[in-house]
Amino acid sequence: MKNEHYPTLFSPIQIGSMTIPNRVTMVPTDISSANADGSVNPRVVTYHEEIAKGGCGFIIVGATTPDKVTGRPTVTCLAADEDPLIPGLAHLAEAMHRHGAKCAVQIQHPGRQAAWPRKNLMSASDHVLDVPGSAGHEVIYAESIAQGKSIRAMTVEEIYDLIEKFGEAAWRVQQAGFDSVELHGAHGYLISQFMSPFVNKRNDRFGGSFMGRMRFTMEIVSRMQMKCGKDYPLGIRYSGDEWIEGGRTLDETVKVAKLMEDMGLAYVDISAGIFESPGAVMDPMYYPEGWNTYTAEEVKKHVKIPVITSHSLRNPDYCEKIVAEGKTDMVGMCRQLIADPYWANKARAGNKRDIRRCISCLVGCWQESLMIRRDMRCAINPAVGDERFIHLQPAGKACKVAVIGGGPAGMEAARISALRGHKVTIFEKTGELGGAMLCCCTVPGKSKMRWHADWLRQQVEKLGIEVKYRTEPKAKDLEGFDVVLLAAGGRVVKPDIPGIDLPIVTTFEDVLRCKSTKCEYYPAGKIEPVECGDNVLIWGDHFGAADAAERLGSAGKKVTVVTENRDFAEWMEPVHRDVMLKRFACGNGEGLKSKTYKHPVRIIPSSSILKIKKDGTVLIVNSTFERSEVKTDTVVLAKVEPNDGAYESFLEAGLTVVKIGDSKNVRNVRGAVTDGANVALAIEKDAALNANNELISNLPTGIDFVVRDA
Ligand SMILES: Cc1cc2nc3c(=O)[nH]c(=O)nc-3n(C[C@H](O)[C@H](O)[C@H](O)COP(=O)(O)O)c2cc1C
Repeated sequence: MKNEHYPTLFSPIQIGSMTIPNRVTMVPTDISSANADGSVNPRVVTYHEEIAKGGCGFIIVGATTPDKVTGRPTVTCLAADEDPLIPGLAHLAEAMHRHGAKCAVQIQHPGRQAAWPRKNLMSASDHVLDVPGSAGHEVIYAESIAQGKSIRAMTVEEIYDLIEKFGEAAWRVQQAGFDSVELHGAHGYLISQFMSPFVNKRNDRFGGSFMGRMRFTMEIVSRMQMKCGKDYPLGIRYSGDEWIEGGRTLDETVKVAKLMEDMGLAYVDISAGIFESPGAVMDPMYYPEGWNTYTAEEVKKHVKIPVITSHSLRNPDYCEKIVAEGKTDMVGMCRQLIADPYWANKARAGNKRDIRRCISCLVGCWQESLMIRRDMRCAINPAVGDERFIHLQPAGKACKVAVIGGGPAGMEAARISALRGHKVTIFEKTGELGGAMLCCCTVPGKSKMRWHADWLRQQVEKLGIEVKYRTEPKAKDLEGFDVVLLAAGGRVVKPDIPGIDLPIVTTFEDVLRCKSTKCEYYPAGKIEPVECGDNVLIWGDHFGAADAAERLGSAGKKVTVVTENRDFAEWMEPVHRDVMLKRFACGNGEGLKSKTYKHPVRIIPSSSILKIKKDGTVLIVNSTFERSEVKTDTVVLAKVEPNDGAYESFLEAGLTVVKIGDSKNVRNVRGAVTDGANVALAIEKDAALNANNELISNLPTGIDFVVRDA
């Protein structure tokens, strides 16, 4: 029966001998959550099983190494290099098959991009690598100078040894009951190192001409076919364009697809970029939906085997359109299914509004996990890596919860508390929910943040959570509540310097305030944003500063940023930072077509502001006490500290109060959402503050709470 909402997306497709129930693919995602020996564990099973339950038709398990001694893309990736790993892989396949999905494993050797080992890395060529956006980025010790890691070209003997290991790994995956194997030839990992003219500088049979560069891949394909049989469906993922001078481009991508079809491959999965072009590989928030679709569309004109496209696909309407128009056979999603594993079911049921759309922040899944050698998390879906949230336990006895502040921490805490049966009231001092996320609405490339604000606002409505707008309660107003969560966000620091009260001084919050009356949540009487002059000085080094620079720079202003740190935005997720700095220099992220700046953004590091004069001159001092002046029309304050002023008075009044989100410690959306989710799990009628002033409940029977000091 045809699906009434998305008939093409939810129609079956044949890939080689596999019949896939629909066109939704989980493109490979290394969740770096396996055991240290690369074996499957319950976390790996649960992650993939939820996606299968969620209705995804084809699940390609992420990078799995054929040889963990010479290369793991992440320290706890899966491995398929020993027979004793087969039973665990079989459990994984069964878990997905139970829910009707077909599944594959992507075999990948990271070569130069290995997270482990850290030294003596193999590649097609011999060079020094410095790609800080990758998970296998060079390790920078606290006290050493970044030097990049040295890479050595593989010997021909090593190449043949590894080809055999790829073949063996595919055979193990087949033995485990998987329906298919995918080769990872994208993103600057080993196969792509051989395929890429930018990386491969060999002059033997594995380099040089197109066929020379393809030899490694072709030999692996032949070896896999020999071990698994020619009918076993193999696919390959590789980048449609490497987005780097001297790299592979779309013309060659088409040639590769034809070659792979001729060799008997069952499908091609077209990705983007190598890690020297990080924006294309990991498309941060800046990238619009489907910016990479054109590559699949071109490949499809030249081959008959199915084509998968991916990158920033989030909206089922767009996905239906590109499949229906024949631009691709299947849509691929990685981060979207991290943020919401039930995407396919929600789309099929016509429940698009309920989809928790991935905001492409890369904070939970990349910066704070794979890049620093930890297992994968998600900034907006706390259930990733923490299965307590998948099957939420109702509270023992419902209680009354007050949430002070309706930003991401407050709304997430309210959502999970309400799901557990508590009666929740949010007190929000402005006329709308969203908190700091709303500052992103007017920032080019950051408006996806609003998706999450909207999703949380909808959940608050759906769960019937009471919201008191334009209210800042005092301790006495909160007496009837069992638990109070202080989620009041951050506040802008106002330095005590001459001129700080001049009318040319404003805050990033005032500059970035949105004024879209089209927004369904736009409150009546909202104050208009502050207009800035042509020359703007921003003081600070957090999201407020970066977003104000982006907003004003792209509007053609001359922007100067003064940071107290050695460099600006070192805390930022590195792929976003890479794109942002390229834009600050009047360039752009790879493949990004958004409007570029008229003037470069000037950054003044290791400095602070000393005085603001009436004529707009700002006196600046650096860390060696040298002074300089910058002439500006507007000064934007963008340094933020926790807004926790009410905390002590709440504690003194005897309230059970905890700080969450930026009120506790100024961080990012992940910090806020995780705090909100965690505290909501601890809320029970008998919850109390422990000696660290954190909320605890459920201590073993017989252990008494010492609630608080007299
Ligand atoms: C946490 C994480 C792990 C990834 N692991 C893999 C992988 O193992 N193999 C691969 O080909 N791509 C991997 N990718 C890239 C994604 O498959 C995908 O191409 C990219 O994230 C853009 O698509 P999206 O917008 O759907 O996330 C990974 C990306 C992320 C964020």
